[in-house]
Amino acid sequence: MNNKQTLLEQIRADIITNNICPDLAKTATNLVMGDGNVDAEIVFIGEAPGKNEDEQGLPFIGAAGKFLDSMLERAGIARSDVYITNIVKYRPPNNRDPLPEEKQAFWPYLVRQLDVIAPKIVVTLGRHSMEYFLPGHKISAVHGQPTPISLGQSRLVIVPLYHPAAALYNGSLRAVLNEDFIKLPTIIKILAKEEEKQ
Ligand code: URA
Repeated sequence: MNNKQTLLEQIRADIITNNICPDLAKTATNLVMGDGNVDAEIVFIGEAPGKNEDEQGLPFIGAAGKFLDSMLERAGIARSDVYITNIVKYRPPNNRDPLPEEKQAFWPYLVRQLDVIAPKIVVTLGRHSMEYFLPGHKISAVHGQPTPISLGQSRLVIVPLYHPAAALYNGSLRAVLNEDFIKLPTIIKILAKEEEKQ
């Protein structure tokens, strides 16, 4: 295990030791920490695991995950190059929305994950993860717009996108999400150029 993987394992262990969201932990099968490249430049952050994710312990592998995969492919981004996680790491019963206190409880562990992975870009999927990075913003007003923030020790660019599950069942949202998604490679290139200049 490399150093980053060891640090990420420690975060998982701490969530269990600190008994985070014990009610969710009781009904969930797995703690779904995240999956992908620990050296990723882009991290995608969803809401919470669903049924398939809970059963297999991996994020975004059900219908919303398949849609995410197809958008990644169209944008020319390999899933194996990015890291994918959620703000809440246990499945809420019957896929209900995560409660504010559940998001709050998991937030410090998400910040630690980002500190370890140290991506350049965080793509939030849906308002549940967006509202922690861009408090007070409305997703309908800011979707697709790269926004620099400071988080802990790091500078990050947040790109808020609609949630693939919401877009799956809403044709106009789906078109907006597809359009925003296809702009990600350009955003990555522009940021890389800006970094070179510094
Ligand atoms: N929806 C999410 O927000 N996360 C998952 O992992 C799966 C579906």
